[in-house]
Amino acid sequence: MRLNSLEITNLRNLQSVSLSPHPNINFIIGPNGSGKTSFLEAISLLSNGRSFRTPDAKKLIRQDTDKLVVFGLCQSEQLGNVRIGMSKDTSGTTLAKLDGQLQHKVSALAKVFPVLSIETNSLELIEGGPSLRRGILDWGMFHVEHSFLETWNHYRNALKQKNALLKSGKKVSPADVHHWNTVIARYGDRLDTERARYTTSFEACFSKISTQYFSQALTGVGFKYRSGWDKGKYPTLLECLNDRLEMEVARCSCLYGPHRAELDILWEGTLAKDICSRGQKKLVLYGIRLAQIALMIERLGGSPILLLDDLPAELDDKNIKNVIRFLKAFPCQTFITAINDQSITQEMLSAFEEHKMFHVEHGTFKETP
Ligand SMILES: Nc1ncnc2c1ncn2[C@@H]1O[C@H](COP(=O)(O)OP(=O)(O)O)[C@@H](O)[C@H]1O
Ligand SMILES: [Mg+2]
Repeated sequence: MRLNSLEITNLRNLQSVSLSPHPNINFIIGPNGSGKTSFLEAISLLSNGRSFRTPDAKKLIRQDTDKLVVFGLCQSEQLGNVRIGMSKDTSGTTLAKLDGQLQHKVSALAKVFPVLSIETNSLELIEGGPSLRRGILDWGMFHVEHSFLETWNHYRNALKQKNALLKSGKKVSPADVHHWNTVIARYGDRLDTERARYTTSFEACFSKISTQYFSQALTGVGFKYRSGWDKGKYPTLLECLNDRLEMEVARCSCLYGPHRAELDILWEGTLAKDICSRGQKKLVLYGIRLAQIALMIERLGGSPILLLDDLPAELDDKNIKNVIRFLKAFPCQTFITAINDQSITQEMLSAFEEHKMFHVEHGTFKETP
């Protein structure tokens, strides 16, 4: 996947930006507050309708305006040229378009325009709650396994219905819960098997990348997928749900299943969030993102778009070199922001002979030769 041109209107301090990125490496240079992260937010928005900085879309809309628009001309390995559009207005309406056609679901855009980012909030992946870590697996499965979204939607709908029933305050009949449990178990077991399988491929890919590109720095990292129920005691989800029915009714909540799964990120066998330094966590984070990219390229042939906010400030020189070596072996369109020209070393420039450089000030972008 690559973005051939991008237009941004009224997103934070970006009133009107129009540029044609390089198919490989793009440097975005500008002082604090100039609009670099906002630019990356625009690309992320085009993929999944969300900002990585805030769940509140209204904060993204430029002050004193009522609508933001992001539009991209993309080239996909599978679909050829695609026009992608996304708008959000102050009334809370989001519109997503593919080739001018309004899409019922924003996920239709994510499917054709996969984006991965590493920015200030990304450490939450290691330090925060389990849903973000489940997201590592689900992101990959969403793009690689055709049936994933359908299975997930069936599971989520049944879970919603069961939750509504448990929370309704009415006396709950076991037969009613059992109906939803059979649906939840049917799709839940499938999701669980797929996630476990994907974890194995992901871990193998991570380990390969860590050996090839990060020498000894990431060798202690491991992953452990946990299903969301005790599989040792209950090999199938239905057995667990049947046995724990009373507990779920008493707690008025769905307590077991893939929505409670966890992907433990381990460092020498201990949870990385508990023992790693901030620098080590960042490195693990880079390893995870690069493994996601490598696995996608391996499985689909196509690569996602990679957003690296303030790369020079985030990693030391040695590890920046490692990332560069990876990106040369697994080319993917990348947007790298930095505060000033000095932080983009001669080494980075010569490694990526082919690149474009943009300078941004007060939300205005200029391509520099
Ligand atoms: N809704 C908004 N309307 C207008 N300006 C905004 C809005 N939200 C943030 N800003 C401003 O946008 C500027 C760009 O921020 P940011 O992209 O984070 O800069 P950088 O990453 O270059 O440091 C900041 O000066 C910020 O105050
Ligand atoms: Mg920034």
